[in-house]
Amino acid sequence: MGTVSPPPVELFKPMNFPLKTLMGPGPSNCPPRVLNACSLPILGHLHPEFVQIMDEVKAGVQYAFQTKNEWTVCISGTGHAAMEAACVNILEPGETVMVGVNGLWGQRFSDMADRNRVKVEKLTKPMGTVFTLEEVEQGLKKHKPVAFFLAQGESSGSTSQPLEKMGQLCHKYNCLFIVDSVAAVGGVPLFMDEWEIDVVYTGAQKVLSAPPGVSPISFSQRAKEKVVNRKTRIPSFYFDMNELANYWGCDDGPRRYHHTGPISSVYAIREGLARLAEVGLESSWAQHKMCAEMLHEGLEKLGLKLLVEDKDIRLPCVNAVLVPSDVNWKDVSDYAMKNYRVEISGGLGALAGKIWRIGIMGHNATPDNVNLVLRAIGEGLQHCRGKSS
Ligand code: GLV
Repeated sequence: MGTVSPPPVELFKPMNFPLKTLMGPGPSNCPPRVLNACSLPILGHLHPEFVQIMDEVKAGVQYAFQTKNEWTVCISGTGHAAMEAACVNILEPGETVMVGVNGLWGQRFSDMADRNRVKVEKLTKPMGTVFTLEEVEQGLKKHKPVAFFLAQGESSGSTSQPLEKMGQLCHKYNCLFIVDSVAAVGGVPLFMDEWEIDVVYTGAQKVLSAPPGVSPISFSQRAKEKVVNRKTRIPSFYFDMNELANYWGCDDGPRRYHHTGPISSVYAIREGLARLAEVGLESSWAQHKMCAEMLHEGLEKLGLKLLVEDKDIRLPCVNAVLVPSDVNWKDVSDYAMKNYRVEISGGLGALAGKIWRIGIMGHNATPDNVNLVLRAIGEGLQHCRGKSS
C-alpha cells in the first residue's frame, strides 16, 4: 500500500462568504423557497415521486415557453449545455446553419456548429443592434440553411431580438428556427408555438431564479422529425434527445435509465417555475419592464447613457450602460461590491471595458434592488472619477 497524502485542511473549515445582491447578467439570487427546495431529501432518479416532479417541471417549462410541444425537457447542465444539445441534435455534418451574430451567443453557437463539422454562415451585426426580417430573408435566400439561430436576449449587447414572423419566414424557406432565450424567457414575451419557433432553450439561473445546472429546452414537431430522421447518429450520448425525451416521459415507452438526473437542481427549478407561474407571465414581463425603465431613468439622472438607444429593442433583463471616459469600469464595480455587496458586471468581447451590465431578473427584479444599484453606481462614480487604475 502507498502512503496516503494528508487531507486538505481547507475542508475542515466551514464555507464562509458574504451575502451578495447579484445584479449582473446571472446567476441571480434565488428566493428562499428555491434554496429550501435544494435541501429536501434526495429521491431516486426514477422514483415515482421524482417522476411526478419532472412532469411538473415539464408543465412549467411549457407554460414559460408558451408551447404544447411534447419534446420539452431539461438538460442536465447550464445554458451552454442546452445550446450544445440544440446544435448536436438538429445539425448534421455537411449541412449549413445560418447564425445571427450580434454578440457572444451567436459566436458561441457558430463555434459549436463548426466543431460538429456543420457549415456556418454568419449574419453579422454590431453588438447593441438586432436583425430585421428583410436581413434574415436575404440570408435565407442566399445560404439555404437547414436551420437559423438567433439569441432572443443577447446579454452581451443587451438587446431583445424581435421574433414575431421570424419562424414563419424560416419555414417559408424550409429552414428550422433555433432561439436562445437564456437571458430573456420570463422577462420578455415569448410565444414558441404562435411564433413557430422550432427549438428554444433557457437556463435556470436568470429569470427562473434557480441555481445554474439544469436548462429547459423544447423541440417543435418539425424539429423532432429532423432529429428522428437524421442520417447520422447524434454525436453526443449525453445530449441525445431520443434518450432524454424518454427519460422525461415524452414518449410512450417506460422511462429508461439514461443518466442520473440532478435531483436537487430539478427540485430547485420546479420551485423557480412555480414562482413564475404564481406571478404569471404577463405580470413578470411588466415587472421587468417597470424595473428596467426605473433603472434607465435613474442612470440618465446620473449622466450615464445606455448602449442601446432604441427603447423597443432594449433587453430589460440585462442592461448595458456606457462607461464614461473619466472612469475605469472595474473601479466602480469594485466600489459597488465593497460598499454595497452588489454585483455590477462588465462587458464581453468588443464591449469589454466599455460597458457595465446590470441584470434585473426574476426574484431580483424589484424597485429596492434598482435603487441599491443606482446608489452604488452613483457613489462609485463620485469616488472613482478621474482616478486611473
Ligand atoms: C452570461 O450569460 C453573460 O451574459 O455574461
